[in-house]
Amino acid sequence: MKKAKVTVVGAGFVGATAAQRIVEKDLADVVLIDIVEGLPQGKALDMMESAPVEEFSSKILGTNRYEDTAGSDVIVITAGLARKPGMSRDDLLFKNAEIVGGIVDACAKHSPDAVIVMVTNPLDVMTWLAQKRSGFPAERVIGMAGELDSARYAYFISEKLGCKPGDVKAMVLGGHGDQMVPVPQETKVKGKPITKLLDTPAIETINQRTRDGGAEIVKLLKTGSAYYAPSSSAVKMVRAILKNTGETIPSCVYLKGSYGLADVYCGVPAKIGRGGVQKIVEISLTGQERQELHRSAEDVRQNFQKLKI
Ligand code: NAI
Ligand code: 2OP
Repeated sequence: MKKAKVTVVGAGFVGATAAQRIVEKDLADVVLIDIVEGLPQGKALDMMESAPVEEFSSKILGTNRYEDTAGSDVIVITAGLARKPGMSRDDLLFKNAEIVGGIVDACAKHSPDAVIVMVTNPLDVMTWLAQKRSGFPAERVIGMAGELDSARYAYFISEKLGCKPGDVKAMVLGGHGDQMVPVPQETKVKGKPITKLLDTPAIETINQRTRDGGAEIVKLLKTGSAYYAPSSSAVKMVRAILKNTGETIPSCVYLKGSYGLADVYCGVPAKIGRGGVQKIVEISLTGQERQELHRSAEDVRQNFQKLKI
């Protein structure tokens, strides 16, 4: 069987770590591309030299040429600027729109059947931009954020309850910004909602820490943003697409009426498999959560409109 091919655009912290996870799991051969000469080549060679130790058989090619990405099944876009301390994700809007726009044009030309997984911030707007620029069906253009935000939520809950992180299945909806919407009654420890395990103030404290999860890491690192959990989350989506698992992953997807939202990209649970989004999953929300989701989606729409596409 032909080996799957994944292009990772951006050989920085998120991109290189995602590439490493993909080859170490033997999910696909990887093309790692960056604008900086030598950077993707050096990282790819270093990773290939780990193959005898890690015992993977996937190959990774570092390049600056889009011709090498041709025929990719999945394209993960991580290129762009990362947040610096004091910077909001939206500060990145115009600079990253310019970078991402050019990258999407080149990737779509060489891999017209690929699924795009966007990672670059501001996430929801960049995902929407990628769909417009590529002209791909919306199902084939997805953003990674909900899985990361939900993973952070799950970790904080496991820390508080002293249980295994893997026993917590968490759910965070909305745009990847300060208005994201943690959903406690859909967040469960071995099937039990956290609303039955923690009191309201404790849940609210964890909700807020989740909303601030990216900024907490930026403050600690001082010169960049998170990349271990982001790359794990992006690779979970890549795996779901390549293996056609159809699993439900909170993802930034194009909404056509679900949750009362239309013509906007926003984070909701979706079944992800071959071809990208297979189904949007509607969970029941409280009136307040629904309102917060709508507010978050409106924020995405307003930022997208600033790009005047
Ligand atoms: P980084 O600065 O380590 O890497 C970015 C890479 O993009 C650099 O190697 C740079 O040379 C490359 N690049 C810049 N312009 C390019 C172009 N035109 N073509 C190809 N490559 C280009 O940044 P990091 O930490 O990897 O973050 C990348 C992006 O991912 C940022 O926008 C960050 O905010 C975002 N991010 C999003 C998350 C999410 O949940 N969606 C989580 C973490 C990061
Ligand atoms: C994060 O949440 C920077 O958006 C990135 O870590």
